Amino acid sequence: MLNLVRVKLNEKNREIYRGGIMDERIKEILGKMSIEEKVAQLTCIERNEICEKEHFSQEKAEAHLKNGAGHISPVLRPFDPEQGTKISNEIQKIAVEKSSSKIPVIIHDECLHGCMAKGSTSFPQSIALASSWDPEMMYRVAKIIGKETRTRGIHQALSPTINIARDVRHGRVEETYGEDPYLTSQMAVAFIKGLQSEKVIATPKHFAADFAGDGGRDSGPTFFSERILREVFFPAFKASIMEAKAWSLMAAYNSINGIPSSSNKWLLTDVLRNEWRFEGFVVSDYGSVGGLYRSHRVANSLAEAGKLALEAGLDIEIPASFCFSHLARLVKEGKISESIIDRAVERVLRGKIWLGLFENPYSDPEEASLICDCDKHRQFALKVAEKCMVLLKNNGILPLSKDIGSIAVIGPNADAIRLGGYSGSGMKVVTVFEGIKNHISKRTKLYFTEGCKVNDRDKSGFSKAVSIAARADVAILVVGNSAETEGENRDRCNLNLPGVQEDLIKAVADTGTPVVVVLINGSAVTMANWFDSVDAILEAWYPGEEGGNAVANIVFGNRNPAGKLPITFPKYTGQLPLYYNHLPCLRTYDYVEVRGFQPMFPFGYGLSYTQFEYKNIKVSPEKFSKKGNIRVSVEVENAGNYEGDEVVQLYVRDIVSSIIRPVKELKRFSKIHLKPGEKTMVEFTLEESDLSFFDENFKPITEPGLFEVMVGKNSTEGLKTTFELK
Ligand code: BGC
Repeated sequence: MLNLVRVKLNEKNREIYRGGIMDERIKEILGKMSIEEKVAQLTCIERNEICEKEHFSQEKAEAHLKNGAGHISPVLRPFDPEQGTKISNEIQKIAVEKSSSKIPVIIHDECLHGCMAKGSTSFPQSIALASSWDPEMMYRVAKIIGKETRTRGIHQALSPTINIARDVRHGRVEETYGEDPYLTSQMAVAFIKGLQSEKVIATPKHFAADFAGDGGRDSGPTFFSERILREVFFPAFKASIMEAKAWSLMAAYNSINGIPSSSNKWLLTDVLRNEWRFEGFVVSDYGSVGGLYRSHRVANSLAEAGKLALEAGLDIEIPASFCFSHLARLVKEGKISESIIDRAVERVLRGKIWLGLFENPYSDPEEASLICDCDKHRQFALKVAEKCMVLLKNNGILPLSKDIGSIAVIGPNADAIRLGGYSGSGMKVVTVFEGIKNHISKRTKLYFTEGCKVNDRDKSGFSKAVSIAARADVAILVVGNSAETEGENRDRCNLNLPGVQEDLIKAVADTGTPVVVVLINGSAVTMANWFDSVDAILEAWYPGEEGGNAVANIVFGNRNPAGKLPITFPKYTGQLPLYYNHLPCLRTYDYVEVRGFQPMFPFGYGLSYTQFEYKNIKVSPEKFSKKGNIRVSVEVENAGNYEGDEVVQLYVRDIVSSIIRPVKELKRFSKIHLKPGEKTMVEFTLEESDLSFFDENFKPITEPGLFEVMVGKNSTEGLKTTFELK
């Protein structure tokens, strides 16, 4: 994959294990196991069963681990690194010394943008990481997450989330890498490789097409054709399995065309195992097996739900095993064949061998406390946050002069901890207000007030906001969402800023003081009501533990913003769903109110403090045969006054095809760095496979003919030319 060629992967062991040694070892272990011990490997102990709040119970752990256990849900989350590691060691000691099977356990946790166990480094939220368009950075982020996670005795990350965000009303858009299958695949592969290079099992989720229910509803039913699944919703999963070799995968809560994803044999066996050669184990989403009985109602008991899921190809029920706990009985009654149980146990054992748990199931508490959220990782979190922010508007006010006389910092997200969904705890978080305070000179006067809450109708704080803004040279308004207004099971039907935040912006702007808006949020917001009243807008997303310092570095020009949007921002909620790579339409694709230019900001959009000019797009050769490849080059010059990064994006359109193709599709991107006045030639190579699509039988084909290629700074602005495939 692009940008990752230099990354060395620790995949050697996997190759060794894939052959004889691993299989022999598994056969040997399996041969000694009772059916109860086997089933125990497919189940998970809920953390509350062995831990009451912050008290770990040795006695309860021993009782639950009698037959061994496959998995344990995030039991270490409330403990600091040192204490957590000690508990992990105690659990493993019980498993390998006191349980009948003597098999070590896998402890899992969430690692979306940092391990959720207390005291880990918190990086910017996934949607922010994707805005960097920097897979190499993503690899390093995931490697740090992996190191902190494994060092403290956690072995499986229920991450990354790689669902495609085609409807930005969905509450979990913040957890995704955006709307594009190619960008999502690149980011997913980098994340998984980084995590697994530290021997933490990655779990791309939620398979499949979750987050895309009607109107963006969480885990809602979906009705997608096989074509759209394969073209849009599958590629990142396929890349995660085939290219990054993820060891696990999570089945989704949703249903597709009437079949729940957690009991869908076509998804979990035919596509995943038979087509993509997945060798790891599939875990349920939390409670999704029970959901087959309780909500989808395709089973008449929990036991039947377990049977349906297992037979479809789902191997482990988490976080507790209300359904899979019946499996041993079902085998004894002849209702499930033991060979299906063996198949799933083999997959779990293969993972445990790869993790090295049989050699050494223990971790070092001292190392964990040294590594987790150490200074080096915090400094990297700062750099990452700076690379993830997207400048959406700037009339020239930014960057602010460091000698500015006075600043009013206003807004409900200015001095609040906002890390986004699936964030850890116990680390120091720098808010935007603190970041600005850290960066201003002694002479600059700083005023602060919240103005209003994120989601409240109370305007009593407005008068103070207006009075400090009127006295200041600039107002920095930090607004957006919070865990109250978006996130899991919190989808939105209106993308305006919640509460009275839009009125706050207008009241402050009416003072005549220039306004810089900083958005802290996880999906698109609509801004038609206030866009023209403000001078600059910086999309900071949920920016991680160093977010406040990163915002300040950008606002004061120590860093030049270079993030690009991984989702389309609509002008109005009524336009949704809205994504750039739609199919052509015989009529205009626009609504009357937005005819001509419909997104507020297109996919791939983001400004810089400098200007990048694109010239001389060339393809060579102009015709190429199926075996060859084609080079597309463009000159990019930094024609402004700041040095900076630019993400050069390449989109392709098949001009005539037997099956309708999207109006454009991202096929390549490259991040470059240029000093003022400097120019460079950026060259991309495309191969035949980049031009392929599925025929009626879902076989990949390419058809000769003309293709349009566009290279530019976002999905709507670029230089175009054509080439021919012979
Ligand atoms: C989410 C998963 C998550 C699990 C455990 C579920 O509600 O859908 O993404 O891994 O909870 O935290």
